[in-house]
Amino acid sequence: MKLPFVLARRFVAAENLDDTIPVVRSLNSKRLFVTLDLLGESVSDRKIAAEATDAYVGLLMRIADERAASRLDANISIKLSMLGQKIDPSLCYDNLLRLLSVATEKDIFVRLDMEGSDLTDSTLSLFEKAYPQHPDHVGVVLQAYLHRTADDIARMCELNARVRLCKGAYKEPASIAYQDMPTIRDRFTDYMQQLIVNARYPGIATHDDILIAATREFVKARDIAPDRYEFQMLYGVRPVTQEHIAADGYRMRVYVPFGTQWLPYYMRRIRERKENLWFIVRNFFRK
Ligand code: FDA
Repeated sequence: MKLPFVLARRFVAAENLDDTIPVVRSLNSKRLFVTLDLLGESVSDRKIAAEATDAYVGLLMRIADERAASRLDANISIKLSMLGQKIDPSLCYDNLLRLLSVATEKDIFVRLDMEGSDLTDSTLSLFEKAYPQHPDHVGVVLQAYLHRTADDIARMCELNARVRLCKGAYKEPASIAYQDMPTIRDRFTDYMQQLIVNARYPGIATHDDILIAATREFVKARDIAPDRYEFQMLYGVRPVTQEHIAADGYRMRVYVPFGTQWLPYYMRRIRERKENLWFIVRNFFRK
């Protein structure tokens, strides 16, 4: 059974790209940058992985065309599991290189989202393999809740790589991930500081006021210019705060998902906040 899109529309821009472009333009008009995510994950068929790669290439071409027609600021975020990571890492790597060659030609940045811990090693090694060939057009995500992230941050600083830092959205066991919010915030703050000082243009991805304030205090104390990093938030989550942060002179990028495969993404957003359940119920009964 296909659930009605009305359920997801708070967190997902649209089910197709044509309807998503006006959303991007509207965010841009509020001084918000965008990263576009064509939804989907965990492909288990080579043909579907090739089709997903084609779809991402199409997305890059469309961004380039829209940008040529009139100013548009959007890069893309992808999940390697869509490119065949779980089938065969070398197939995934070939698909990734195909995508990155178009991204480099069109000068559009590609962020590799981080998924569950079964894919962390593989995602980081595919990133490290592709990065030397496309140093300005590919970046990765690190999750503050994983114990291993201290080492991964050090490595990404060594590479001067572009990292998005987030808390982590997947359910992970206590043996590999911190479970309590004070520790996760403490780790996030430490990593945020290391990335801003030692790595290239990090994305500080959080809606958490404590972490946003910690970042603002840190850059103020160090007199770090606002073009050295950016804040990032999800489409539909704290939209007013997104505009306020941009109006204060900081860079803010909104992660805008679109596409028909919105259910797993949507369920992660719902799990994060109990009051979102009330939002679903209200929307479900709205005409
Ligand atoms: P937290 O969950 O504590 O929220 C702080 C406040 O923000 C809440 O009190 C509430 O006001 C608001 N809020 C947060 N989530 C909300 C929601 N769903 N609905 C309504 N209000 C909400 N994870 C991952 O594992 N891999 C990845 O690649 C990414 N990528 C990514 C990109 C971007 C741009 C963002 C912002 C986040 C991710 N994440 C992610 C998700 C991330 O790991 C994390 O699960 C969420 O951002 C929630 O954590 P916060 O730090 O926002 O704080």
